[in-house]
Amino acid sequence: MRTHHCNELRDSHIDQTVTLIGWVNSARDHGGVIFIDLRDREGLTQCVFHPEENPQVSTLSHTLREEDVVQVTGRVSKRLEGSQNDKIATGSIEIVAQELKIVNKADVLPFQLDKDLSNEDLRMKYRYLDLRRPRMSKNIRQRSVITSAARRYLDDAGFYEIETPILSNPTPEGARDFLVPSRLNPGRFYALPQAPQQYKQLLMVAGMEKYFQIARCFRDEDLRADRQPEFTQIDIEASFVTQDDIIHLVEGLLGSMFKAGLGIEVPASFPRMTYKDAMDIYGSDKPDTRYGMEITDLGDVFASTEFKIFRSILDGSGVVRAINAKGFATITTGQMNRLNEIAVQAGLPVKNLAFIKLENGEYKSPLWKIFTDLEKAAVVSKLDLADGDIVFFAAGSRESVSTILGRVRCEAAVMMELNKDSTKFNFLWVVDFPLLAHDEETGHWAAVHHPFTRPHPEDIALLEAGDFANVRAVAYDVVLNGYELGGGSIRIHEKDLQAQMFSVLGVGPDEQQIKFGHILDAFRFGAPPHGGLALGLDRIAMLVAGEESIREVIAFPKNNKGADLMAHSPCQIEHKLLREVYVQSTYKDPKLTPVEKA
Ligand code: AMO
Repeated sequence: MRTHHCNELRDSHIDQTVTLIGWVNSARDHGGVIFIDLRDREGLTQCVFHPEENPQVSTLSHTLREEDVVQVTGRVSKRLEGSQNDKIATGSIEIVAQELKIVNKADVLPFQLDKDLSNEDLRMKYRYLDLRRPRMSKNIRQRSVITSAARRYLDDAGFYEIETPILSNPTPEGARDFLVPSRLNPGRFYALPQAPQQYKQLLMVAGMEKYFQIARCFRDEDLRADRQPEFTQIDIEASFVTQDDIIHLVEGLLGSMFKAGLGIEVPASFPRMTYKDAMDIYGSDKPDTRYGMEITDLGDVFASTEFKIFRSILDGSGVVRAINAKGFATITTGQMNRLNEIAVQAGLPVKNLAFIKLENGEYKSPLWKIFTDLEKAAVVSKLDLADGDIVFFAAGSRESVSTILGRVRCEAAVMMELNKDSTKFNFLWVVDFPLLAHDEETGHWAAVHHPFTRPHPEDIALLEAGDFANVRAVAYDVVLNGYELGGGSIRIHEKDLQAQMFSVLGVGPDEQQIKFGHILDAFRFGAPPHGGLALGLDRIAMLVAGEESIREVIAFPKNNKGADLMAHSPCQIEHKLLREVYVQSTYKDPKLTPVEKA
């Protein structure tokens, strides 16, 4: 239907007769001469309808409205001196139209496409229009480009792309499963995969050696800007590999994706930090290292303090730590209230964060007068406290202080706009995660990554001895600018160790057989050592696009209630259909109409 796309024609095409097709981006009437910008996926071309060129076509052109789909045939001409547009690639030429076909008329749009729209519900309801906007079109294109780059890279590295079932069994990745009733097996359910974890490990037992998949994953969990109920992983597994092999592979993979998406070179290898250091220094296992504001331990400063609160915490093997938000003494009362709120949510046992502010040479602080001169001097020098700075303190257990100061650090950075620099890409590996974490609610030990993660060889004795809190895993996360891009591990490949791991997690022998019999069985028949990782493709696409929500890089995302406002999912299902799959709802919906109830 076209000879060229709308971003293609240049001076070299002048005098050629061409046909373009697309949408009317804008239409203007200049004294009876109609100018339109014709748009397709690639860009814009100006078309002019002169009455003297073709009176019929010119008359028809007066009926054109934004977003009509039209086909234009005409002559490529040089634009008049002074009417060139350097903002678009085709800005030196225009099409003098000889033919016009209105392929499809458009109604008045529910919103203008050339303006940023804050009403997200409206954008989602008409997502197909929202996606026509250049920003969204660019995001979707970039996502496609980086996905292709990933495929090429992994293909070149000898990985097979293999699909695994969507209708499968519950997967222990830490979220709730989405369930699908089976009509052919009354009373039984499939679960949608939270990740293809077990299948990819079984592919290693199957001798595939190098697997990847652009895999849809489903998790019924609370949604955030970087979390959707269905999302996409670049899922990878390989046999006969070490942690370093996976790390190097993923560094190259991310390098190829950022090169393709943004044309930038990322470092050939990323810094590595242990989980313990990440928590101690940044209070987060996915630290944003674009800015400092590191957590400083003040144990030595207050070693002989007589300030009762610090004294008792330090004597009870707790810690006193602080961060310096440099230049943020200008903090407003509203911001301070917000930081206090965040700190309390993170576990601060009192209502207000202790702070020291230095403004115009004056220390303002509820604590300052309590400190001795020696302590004051040490605090100033250790935290590099200068005029205009504000220091926040937390005291308590090492974990709670990390969590509190980590959250305050992130929020203060948002307030100071330190997290806005989209030209910096600070990749980081966080390694040596703990294998297990104690779940206070259930009283059980839970896997920090998942139950298939290998304990650190140096810590097997601790596992045997029941010192679960101190067992490290051969697990690693790759982090970018405060986002967890991906996570993985070297796996357990021995049946007995896997069974032991399940036992530690409170899964007894019978339950192990029912839930994980297939993988325990597989490990009996020569399972190779293996490991892998999964990257969150949506998050990578978001950071490449410079967006702050993965909804901006997913064609049809769900809103924060897990709903698709365009297609109206999730929807009610007729009773007849539910009966066919042997499902009865216990939810009584007051909004159901009598007909739907019947
Ligand atoms: P994990 O659970 O860490 O590991 O997931 C890997 C990556 O997937 C992305 N991700 C999400 N993205 C958007 N919305 C979500 N709800 C969501 N949940 C996770 C993140 C995350 O880093 N099977 C293991 C991997 C392995 O061990 O090989 C797994 O799924 O970017």
